[in-house]
Amino acid sequence: MATVAELLQPVEADLDALLADLRSLIGAGHPILQAAAEHLFAAGGKRLRPGIVLLLSRAVDADGELGPRHRRLAEITEMIHTASLVHDDVVDEAATRRGVDTVHSRFNHRVAVLAGDFLFAQASWHLANLDDLEVVKLLSRVIMDLADGEVKQGLFRYDTGQSFETYLEKSYCKTASLIANSARAAGVLTGLAPQQLDDLYRFGRQLGLAFQVVDDILDFTGSDQQLGKPAASDLASGYLTAPALYALQERPALAGLIEREFSQEGDLEQALELVRGCEAIPRSRALAEGFAKEASAALDWLAPSEPSRALRGLPDFVLSRLY
Ligand code: IPE
Ligand code: IPE
Ligand code: MG
Ligand code: MG
Repeated sequence: MATVAELLQPVEADLDALLADLRSLIGAGHPILQAAAEHLFAAGGKRLRPGIVLLLSRAVDADGELGPRHRRLAEITEMIHTASLVHDDVVDEAATRRGVDTVHSRFNHRVAVLAGDFLFAQASWHLANLDDLEVVKLLSRVIMDLADGEVKQGLFRYDTGQSFETYLEKSYCKTASLIANSARAAGVLTGLAPQQLDDLYRFGRQLGLAFQVVDDILDFTGSDQQLGKPAASDLASGYLTAPALYALQERPALAGLIEREFSQEGDLEQALELVRGCEAIPRSRALAEGFAKEASAALDWLAPSEPSRALRGLPDFVLSRLY
């Protein structure tokens, strides 16, 4: 199974240049916000989202080349992603991210809120400067979706009556929207036909949903160290993800523990055991596999090339994080 570094290899040099560029873009602002943003960029994420934009851009270009606007789109994508993480960690009161302290724990909450806003604002400015109204609409919709997703998640905390549909909508908003719309935007900048744009969107959407379900499984099965962020934290915060929702169908006792918000000694441990000890994890895995398969199918039409081979490997990479 290929690692993410192997898959992103066709755009490795592009990604290195992108990170350097990102640092100089945000560096022009205030020293404290720069330090905060730099702190996270230096820790290094997987760079999956800009990697997808770069691979797609090369895969759909007749000569396999990459223009400055596609590069800028990839940078904007990573800026929006990082901003969303900084804010998500404040909302979740998470202590670590990418294996280092979160911005709010390294600095403080005020700095984290401002640093996230600063990144969103910078992303919007560079987005507008691409001078393509369709792309502006796609990516500003993503910023709306991110806010909407965080609000939805908050509203449904500890709500054992929420539907699976609500969970998937929240996952689309928080995760899949960015991957789907940035993939589509890469195609818009290339001038692809509407059918191909729809396929790029569908690829990103299904891959994003698979990615979020996998992240939600790892929260139950992974360790802090493996994930670089706190594990076993979703259920504790009242966020009911695929494993918890499936477990609720199989283990009615779980509902009581969640509804009293794990207020009694041993509640949380018991709840985690209930989820881990039934079919919830295998069923969530099957759900992620279904999304990953749909993502692969959306790229059938891509001509063979190194970048398109890498793109076709991404759905399996997302699933391989489980093993
Ligand atoms: C984290 O995304 C947020 C989720 C959608 C689960 P990544 O796991 O891609 O985060 P980084 O960028 O690699 O740190
Ligand atoms: C990821 O959702 C999407 C965003 C951060 C916008 P999660 O809330 O599951 O991400 P982690 O688990 O904190 O990385
Ligand atoms: Mg979170
Ligand atoms: Mg998560």
